[in-house]
Amino acid sequence: MRAFLVVAHKFRGEVNLNDLPGSGRIDVVARCINASIFLSHTIRRDVLFFVYFPRIGMRIKIDASKVKYLNPDERSTAALIRNALLNYSEDKEIRTSPGFYIRSANLEDVLEELVSVGALYYLREDGKDIRSVELERNSSFILSDSVNMSNDEENMLLEKGAALISVGPKSLLSSHVIAIVHNELDRRGL
Ligand SMILES: C[S@@+](CC[C@H](N)C(=O)[O-])C[C@H]1O[C@@H](n2cnc3c(N)ncnc32)[C@H](O)[C@@H]1O
Repeated sequence: MRAFLVVAHKFRGEVNLNDLPGSGRIDVVARCINASIFLSHTIRRDVLFFVYFPRIGMRIKIDASKVKYLNPDERSTAALIRNALLNYSEDKEIRTSPGFYIRSANLEDVLEELVSVGALYYLREDGKDIRSVELERNSSFILSDSVNMSNDEENMLLEKGAALISVGPKSLLSSHVIAIVHNELDRRGL
């Protein structure tokens, strides 16, 4: 199982399908979902994708083994996120479409979910080169969005035992980092 978490710092709670970048960069989240789940003509069933929205204290989980109605384009992916937000309940986790789950959470709650998947890795430009790191088959990878993690967030990741790793010397888009991580795991047969 491979899990990915993107911390979407800029999202304020509303998705305007006609302005995804203006909707707190939900376009970045949609591209990360695309990079995490899609292969050419099929999807990776062994993936869990998490997005955590710190400003509204919610997380969405996508279980690719159950997902339906997910297409590679950003707009329809954003529509599924919008649908999840519209059906959110404060009291319990809600399944809002096949494979989509929303609940209230803080970062620590989400990290606990990731720990239950497997080894934790925090992707950062100055981390240890992924090519020199022995990755586990069951792993969780944590990334930020278009801004960096706060110091408090970073401290929490490190306290939970996340290993700092880098996919290369340049600062890349989060979705591109996810594609590279998949490629590393694929090449190792993990
Ligand atoms: C667009 S970058 C973040 C913003 C960027 N640090 C800046 O100063 O504008 C998005 C995220 O992708 C991950 N990332 C980008 N490049 C990376 C690299 N070379 N190795 C590992 N992670 C990387 C990090 O988690 C980063 O927070």
